[in-house]
Amino acid sequence: MYRIGKEEIEEVAKVIESGNMFKINDALHETEACEEKIRGLFGVKRSLLVTSGFAALTSALVGMGIGPGDEVIVPAYTYIATVMAVVAAGAIPVIADIDATYTIDPDKIEEKISPRTKAVIPVHIQGFPCNMAAICALSEKYGFQILEDACQADGGSYRGKRLGSIGKAGALSFNQFKVISAGEGGAVLTDDDAVYERALIYHDASAIAFFGNQLDGINEPQFCGAEYRTNEIAAAILRRQLEKLDGILTDLRRNKAYLTGLLKEKFAIGPSNDLAGDCGTTLPVVFETEAEARAFSAKVGTGNYLPIDTGKHIYNHWTAILEQRGAFHPLMDPFKFPANAPYVPDYKAEVYPVTLDLLARTVFLFPSPDWTQAEMQKIAQTVL
Ligand SMILES: Cc1ncc(COP(=O)(O)O)c(C=O)c1O
Repeated sequence: MYRIGKEEIEEVAKVIESGNMFKINDALHETEACEEKIRGLFGVKRSLLVTSGFAALTSALVGMGIGPGDEVIVPAYTYIATVMAVVAAGAIPVIADIDATYTIDPDKIEEKISPRTKAVIPVHIQGFPCNMAAICALSEKYGFQILEDACQADGGSYRGKRLGSIGKAGALSFNQFKVISAGEGGAVLTDDDAVYERALIYHDASAIAFFGNQLDGINEPQFCGAEYRTNEIAAAILRRQLEKLDGILTDLRRNKAYLTGLLKEKFAIGPSNDLAGDCGTTLPVVFETEAEARAFSAKVGTGNYLPIDTGKHIYNHWTAILEQRGAFHPLMDPFKFPANAPYVPDYKAEVYPVTLDLLARTVFLFPSPDWTQAEMQKIAQTVL
């Protein structure tokens, strides 16, 4: 989260003064307004505000009809929530390595495709757009669905299309650490009515039939699901944050480009599938060895790290997945379902060499949209 202040405070005050914080109300209709804004900004037909990125991913997978007996390919480098969403839908995550862009390698996806592959989740990690052209071509060839995890890439784009709007569905996150934030929050994006309807029912299964006319025009039957309903305070904050989104991205991209310009004569900068659409939140500096990366990191001092050190974003730290505990009760554990059990990978034995090697030889710098050129020159001087 980069820019939040009095505008959001004013919106929150209005919601509280209205006395209506529930999303279905006769007052400000912030949730509806926010969803409409998302549809316009992201160029999608349907949008659903939910409580988190995980809720968005899980609702989208349920919307897409993913479940037991299905495999979903995920990258070895992502936040564990991506992988847990697959398990929450009852399916089996199949891990594929990344390439030099830090995003899932389309060739490695192809190697992992089986008759059970029903979906692939390209993750636009650190705001880096995935190679969507290659992934879409594979989707056409093999018939799997694409769910874009754009949780770390709110507002970014690939070849002019917003991340999250290219696949069958997309997921955004608005937690504290994302491009825009309401503290917590998420959104499902899709053009597909059936995906939307099933996600809608799943995300608020107990309330959907009882509040407002949410089921008007909905064809999918009701089923038991979760409670990932948003609220008017979060929606009001987000509506205002969405107005700031493109300004934040413009400034992030400008500053990333400027800092890149200062460093690129001396250092290798990680390649991008679409630099114009990259969110600009992260500048990857790549070295031949981990020792060189660590020396660079130490010189820069604060505000940088080697991605290998983040732990939770790397497959070999996904404890619940590695140990195959897919639920709170063994009989509800997708890893033990008869439809899945024969196909569960031995995650502990798997090694993804590009992920481990590249993340250990990389230093991420994190441009601020508000840095001045002088501030960036100062950072560059520490290493030049
Ligand atoms: C790539 C990725 N996917 C999913 C999530 C889950 O988002 P949330 O924390 O909003 O549930 C995150 C959150 O950090 C993420 O980075």
